[in-house]
Amino acid sequence: MPLEDEQESTRQTILVTQALPYANGDIHLGHLVEAVQADIYVRFHKLKGNKAIFVCADDTHGTPIELSARNKGITPEELIKDAWQKHVDDYAAFDIEFDNYYSTNSEENRRYSEYIFERLQQNNLIVEREVSQYYCEHDKRFLPDRFVKGTCPKCGAGEQYGDVCELCGSTYEPTDMKNPRCSICGNPPVLKKSTHFFVKLDQCADFLKEFVGSGNVLQEDMRNFVNSWIDEGLKEWCISRDGPYFGFKIPGTEDKYFYVWLDAPVGYIASTDKWCRDHGEQTDDFWSAHSDSRIVHFIGKDIVYFHALFWPVMLKNAELKLPNKIYVHGFLTVEGEKMSKSRGTFILARDFAAKMKHPLATEYLRFYYGAKLTSSAGDIDLNIEEFCSRANTTLVNNIGNLHNRTFIFCERYFDGRIPDAQWDEDLASLVAQTGAEIEAHLEAVEYKEAIEKIHVLGNTGNKYYQDNKPWELVKSDKQRAAQVMVTCANLVRSLAVFLKPVTPGVTAVFEKQLDQRLGWNDHHFSLRDVAFAPTEKLAKPIDRSEFDLLYMSGKSAASALEIPLNDSGVTFDDFKNIDLRVAIVKQAEKVKKSNKLLKLQVAIGPQSRQIIAGIAQHYKPEEIIGKQIIVVANLKPAKLMGELSQGMLLAAQDGNSLCILGLDKQVTPGSKVS
Ligand code: 2FM
Ligand code: ZN
Repeated sequence: MPLEDEQESTRQTILVTQALPYANGDIHLGHLVEAVQADIYVRFHKLKGNKAIFVCADDTHGTPIELSARNKGITPEELIKDAWQKHVDDYAAFDIEFDNYYSTNSEENRRYSEYIFERLQQNNLIVEREVSQYYCEHDKRFLPDRFVKGTCPKCGAGEQYGDVCELCGSTYEPTDMKNPRCSICGNPPVLKKSTHFFVKLDQCADFLKEFVGSGNVLQEDMRNFVNSWIDEGLKEWCISRDGPYFGFKIPGTEDKYFYVWLDAPVGYIASTDKWCRDHGEQTDDFWSAHSDSRIVHFIGKDIVYFHALFWPVMLKNAELKLPNKIYVHGFLTVEGEKMSKSRGTFILARDFAAKMKHPLATEYLRFYYGAKLTSSAGDIDLNIEEFCSRANTTLVNNIGNLHNRTFIFCERYFDGRIPDAQWDEDLASLVAQTGAEIEAHLEAVEYKEAIEKIHVLGNTGNKYYQDNKPWELVKSDKQRAAQVMVTCANLVRSLAVFLKPVTPGVTAVFEKQLDQRLGWNDHHFSLRDVAFAPTEKLAKPIDRSEFDLLYMSGKSAASALEIPLNDSGVTFDDFKNIDLRVAIVKQAEKVKKSNKLLKLQVAIGPQSRQIIAGIAQHYKPEEIIGKQIIVVANLKPAKLMGELSQGMLLAAQDGNSLCILGLDKQVTPGSKVS
């Protein structure tokens, strides 16, 4: 077979996905762990000449998006359009190169979702059941678990969501909670019946066991988890929601919609379908059950249940292709702790790209994540010291240095050409052998191992340069100096190839210098007697002070903690002079001609007071009626925009957002706060 045909026949087709980010949130550094992990994988396969297609989309449906749009006074369609552009821009800033970035609110997605539902029905896997659910008479809607708040039935913590207590970790039904309230309006909900569609997952246990057990589709620890869920017995999965809901109406129903988690993964297919239409290809070539392509999903460990249980059942019954591999990664911590807004470590992608002044900061983040990522689902930590030291040690002082000294030397002594000489065969074979190992690590998503090997190879190159002393050879034996240079130049090119999936921007500087687009096979030595453009440094050192601006941006609350305590502090008696009381908001309305002020009537014990509060940009009047708040009850009355204010409510400011202080249990209004 001619070589090209042989390559064509061994060329793999791989469809790669990352989890679809919700349209009602910004992309943060946590999202980027997965995006970088998947993007390295795709770039690596493309570099090898495989046909790898990377698809994604915004996850646009569900109650939170509908309510968020309502609170902003816009339509959900407007909200998701705006989010889509922001997400596309945020990913692009980190060189995440999707072949298609779509939306789950698309006609393709509706069509595939309906088709899958129909197939599940035909296979007798859908059952309709009547269930009782909390309903808010005020908001005229059924309340999803997360929209019921109340007291944890186990530990008594107040203000918990209807599914899990953040304090003691116990899970429960919203109906088990004490004091349940609608999280939108604060009113107690009522129980109301509604009919819903359920997937009989329990009937799919054998298929799922086989799927999970076959061909290493999941990492071992994840496989054990999923097997244990199957062994415990699978519950029926409710896939419908009552209106109002932003999503796809279920055909043949009056007001039922597909639950967001039904159509979200279908977005993988819809995005592929759109890409295929734009590129004259067939969706079936990727998604039909008999297709030879590989489907590879990258997801976080919080959504394994959906991808390893629900999703395969949907695909199987629709005669679509099952995933070949689901890579599950862990969460990102920052400086050893969960990302936190008050500590300033909840960092948005956009802020990182804009506030880090170093031109390669986003590349260095890719490199850092790559250097930490393995195929296990362990959490990874972003540590600033380590971030700087990894970039400086490997990219600047090791590989960047080898590149710089080699090419500057050739500029000076070999007329800006890589000389025509024989390279060192031992080093050439070491590179070929290490290249095969790096390839295997990248293929297995063991990026940490791959980068360690790249680093060691760079060290070997620098040692070779140092040991051979070309600056002396060039005077005594120019031909030998040429051999050293041709060896080092080839080695730099190999390193640039190996790094290309991880730091495409760094490699691009070198590609520009050589005027060559590098492919995987270019890591083999073959370069001699070629001219190159003037040398630019591949990487520049980074210092931890770069992060100051970034950490500051989210730090308003934390910086308050840094206010020094000194003799000018208030005494306890000063503090006692402020009469803080619990109050309950009875009425709220906007102050005319003001977009900042709300007029509240609050009950403080038997007394009623009027308070004018600057919270209109953060709370709608109906959102705060019924809330228990803390007020300064003995503030001198004042007039604001002509309205009398007889107190002040307490609130926390977090960057641009504002949160009213409340209580974690119901307390009699008028109670003293101290
Ligand atoms: O957990 C999430 O952020 C979801 N939006 C992921 C959806 S992934 C896929 F199934 F669509
Ligand atoms: Zn309500």
